[in-house]
Amino acid sequence: MPETRADASQWIALEDHWSAHNYHPLDVVIARGEGIWVWDVEGKKYLDFLAAYSALNQGYGHPRIVEALTRQAKELALTSRAFRNDRFGPFCRKLSQLLGYDKTLMMNTGAEAVETAVKACRRWGYRSKGVPAGEAEIIVFDGNFHGRTTTIISFSTDEGARGDFGPYTPGFRVAPYGDVEATRAMVNDRTVAILVEPIQGEGGVVIPPADFLPGLRALCDERKVLLICDEIQSGLGRAGSLLAHTLSGIRADGVTIGKALSGGLYPVSAFLADDAVMDVFDPGSHGSTYGGNPLACAVAEAAMDVLVEEGLVEHSARLGVHLEERLRAIEVDFIEEIRVAGLWAGIQFSPSVGGARKISEALQAKGLLCKETHVHTLRLAPPLVIKQEELDMALDILEGVLLSL
Ligand SMILES: Cc1ncc(COP(=O)(O)O)c(C=O)c1O
Repeated sequence: MPETRADASQWIALEDHWSAHNYHPLDVVIARGEGIWVWDVEGKKYLDFLAAYSALNQGYGHPRIVEALTRQAKELALTSRAFRNDRFGPFCRKLSQLLGYDKTLMMNTGAEAVETAVKACRRWGYRSKGVPAGEAEIIVFDGNFHGRTTTIISFSTDEGARGDFGPYTPGFRVAPYGDVEATRAMVNDRTVAILVEPIQGEGGVVIPPADFLPGLRALCDERKVLLICDEIQSGLGRAGSLLAHTLSGIRADGVTIGKALSGGLYPVSAFLADDAVMDVFDPGSHGSTYGGNPLACAVAEAAMDVLVEEGLVEHSARLGVHLEERLRAIEVDFIEEIRVAGLWAGIQFSPSVGGARKISEALQAKGLLCKETHVHTLRLAPPLVIKQEELDMALDILEGVLLSL
């Protein structure tokens, strides 16, 4: 361990030497977090506007979730699903009722929830739709981000995420995001599902045209295809709704959630669907040693209670209006597009800026942490516990930095 807490460079040197270089983090070494604030090893305080890609919707170290975690850790942390545990059934009921599906299948990471959805859709296709064995197809969209497993990167359109990781898993077709007619043209008798992010988070908070999700819903109904919404980043309040796709007035046949499901304290994810889909799983067909463990259930239960009882979803919708008004009032000519949904924004800069990384670094110097996504987009995603005056403080910093460029 480094001996002093005075100089971030020693931590950075350790990380660069001993860790694989699979990220390009800002050079801030965080040592403590509380609510919307973090402190680095040098004692400098920052507002966090990334919220761990929306895992920290409830803020850092929410006391109720920490309490649930510590209490449960002392009682019982892991049984594996070889035995039953007293937290599992009650939590599955709570989550299923909250999101309005018959059943929950708990996993750990977001990518695992997506893998679960893929398996469910394929099996459903063979058993309920009569697709010939081994021929199921799932339609996905360009610009998607669903995780990092070899199957999931097989249908990524980001060369950085997939290049030289082949051979790739077959059975996926990529349609243009936002285009129902082009999607329709790809559906055939082997299509079992359409997998879509209601808003593309990693893609840069890309909001599709209003008729896109309703169009996909109608298409799925016509062609006996499952509509699966990946709500891992967009869900649980981020976009101003418990599930972002319901803002379009539709209901998906299945959803994946993760990240804020545990309020940033523990990896917990889930796939939810009705019995007609979920019943394809029988003993031995799927699972995970840690999936549905009592610690995960206790943490996620507290995280869901916080989300609901503190009104964070409604707060996100309300404050998001203010966020959008303030962003649109920033008068600079190098912003190409501003996209806002709840407390979630993507600011697309023109290439003349030289990349959004430069802006992230300038904001960091002023005490505001956000991160570029792709090259020219800055994503804003504060913890949903933020107050309006704190949001204004951050937006003053952002406006100041942009006006000084
Ligand atoms: C929409 C979406 N799906 C899946 C994932 C993967 O989640 P995890 O990193 O927990 O595997 C992410 C992560 O950013 C995501 O945004």
